[in-house]
Amino acid sequence: MKDSLKIVVGVAGGIAAYKACMLVRILKEQGHSVTVVPTPSALNFVGAATFEALSGNRVSTTVFDAVDEVQHVRIGQEADLVVIAPATADLMARLVAGRADDLLTATCLVATCPVVVAPAMHTEMWMHPATQANVATLRDRGVTVLDPAHGRLTGKDSGPGRLPEPQQIADLALTALQTGGYSRDLEGKRVLITAGGTQENLDPVRFLGNRSSGRQGFALAEVAAQRGAHVTIVAGNTDELDTPCGAEIVKVVSAREMAEAVEKRATDADLIIMAAAVADFRPETEANAKLKKGHDDAALNAIHLVENPDILATTVERRTKGELGECVIIGFAAETGSDTQDPLELAQAKLKRKGCDLLMLNQVGHGKVFGELDNAGWLLAPGQEPREVPAGSKFEVAAAILDAASEL
Ligand code: CTP
Repeated sequence: MKDSLKIVVGVAGGIAAYKACMLVRILKEQGHSVTVVPTPSALNFVGAATFEALSGNRVSTTVFDAVDEVQHVRIGQEADLVVIAPATADLMARLVAGRADDLLTATCLVATCPVVVAPAMHTEMWMHPATQANVATLRDRGVTVLDPAHGRLTGKDSGPGRLPEPQQIADLALTALQTGGYSRDLEGKRVLITAGGTQENLDPVRFLGNRSSGRQGFALAEVAAQRGAHVTIVAGNTDELDTPCGAEIVKVVSAREMAEAVEKRATDADLIIMAAAVADFRPETEANAKLKKGHDDAALNAIHLVENPDILATTVERRTKGELGECVIIGFAAETGSDTQDPLELAQAKLKRKGCDLLMLNQVGHGKVFGELDNAGWLLAPGQEPREVPAGSKFEVAAAILDAASEL
């Protein structure tokens, strides 16, 4: 992908138009050139001056501005990506009808680049058969229509129809550009994902933990949901990440809590992905009160550890015993390697030991992977040559993992 893209941010007239300001800022900070094309009604919510200042480009809504530059055609022709956020029910209806009665719809008719539409509206409007038919038509024509988030809407009501957060829209739109959009191959499938690091308490204020941010697990959830899956994330400690659109989150702290949450939900899952960094050991005892130096030195100097359950191996075992449905199980391998140990060999041994269908190997440590935005590695499957997953954002890596899962 080019480092600097020409991106058109289309904004329709909905209350969520305010989030487009942040989206423009995020895309600009990534080094892209952004032209904002609002509909006339979008300017009831955010003024043109705001979009001009944030994008550094002139803003107009009508095909009759800058006619000498044939602007109504040029903007669409030159774009590498069009992202419309928010898209109202009315705008989608006009896109379906092929209208060109303002600059945004004219731009969309001209654009041959990927178009990503992020709808936002009240649940009733989103669920209306007219809107659903328009979404299906746009998807059939190759437009990427993102599923909206669930949550608080403009009034007191909540449900599906909320605009995803600006960072999510930016990540999903750039991934759609990079990977050719989101096929709906996981429509209706139940996907269970573990993410983040577990924390093993020593006393009420101290724990043993690790550096996992949860970003790869959350990216998998975002992409799986956009491919039509019902996603549940069992999340340990993670960075402050937005809830993936449409996903249910179950928060846990320790490995044993994670094991229990997975055990309950694995039975009806079609795809289980264990991206969490689970602590292999926990302190044998958890003190009820803070351990004090000078008083509890014996306990602090020699922390006795016991092994945690292996959630991945246990889930594979349950499948073998017939306790789960037919499902695909994917593990991760975090390996640093060493002078004498090749990470790929370690991962092949881990794949055999865990018995899962796919294993994603990441080389970790020394600033690699944990907490970073990018990832890379190899996908290993029993009896197959390792497949390299090229360096890319954690969203692109998520798309590659889900492609491999879909093949299975
Ligand atoms: N895993 C798990 N339960 C554990 C430990 C790991 O479910 N108690 C899962 C992880 O979520 C990951 C895979 O097993 O999908 C491999 O995790 P990793 O930490 O690389 O391997 P370990 O089994 O912990 O082996 P080691 O630390 O010795 O490399």
